[in-house]
Amino acid sequence: MKLVRLLYYSRASREMSLSDLKDILGTARDNNSSVDVCGMLCYDKRYFLQALEGDRETVNELYLDIADDPRHDDIVIISYEEVNEQIFPQWQMGYAGSSAEFSALLKELGQSDFSPRDMTQMQAFNFLKKMAGAQSEL
Ligand SMILES: Cc1cc2nc3c(=O)[nH]c(=O)nc-3n(C[C@H](O)[C@H](O)[C@H](O)COP(=O)(O)O)c2cc1C
Repeated sequence: MKLVRLLYYSRASREMSLSDLKDILGTARDNNSSVDVCGMLCYDKRYFLQALEGDRETVNELYLDIADDPRHDDIVIISYEEVNEQIFPQWQMGYAGSSAEFSALLKELGQSDFSPRDMTQMQAFNFLKKMAGAQSEL
């Protein structure tokens, strides 16, 4: 098996309600657990930032499905790489939305609003990693 990590950001096609986010996470967690994919999703100010980790073919197929989802547009891959291990193994899909930790991390990056399009690949990866340790309940 070839393990890969894919990071992307996108813009929600409309403001997401809690129940919209619950729907997305419910599907993601069900599906991902059946195919051994894990990762982390952040949402705020209409932007999504997501990491997907798993088997190469599975992650590619999943990304194409996700990219086709009308709940977001303007999807942009930040990075795609082969990895030795999954760093989000505890979460079929972790989640973090706006919170004190979220704002503090953005501030370190000089952002007042969540803008993953202005993050480097390393900044986006570190952001997801740190928020995995400070998740929002959903
Ligand atoms: C921002 C975002 C992230 C998503 N993440 C995942 C995911 O990690 N795994 C997944 O299976 N579906 C995810 N989805 C949902 C897929 O786009 C799609 O609805 C789903 O794969 C269809 O699964 P189903 O045919 O089993 O309903 C996501 C959707 C959005 C908008």
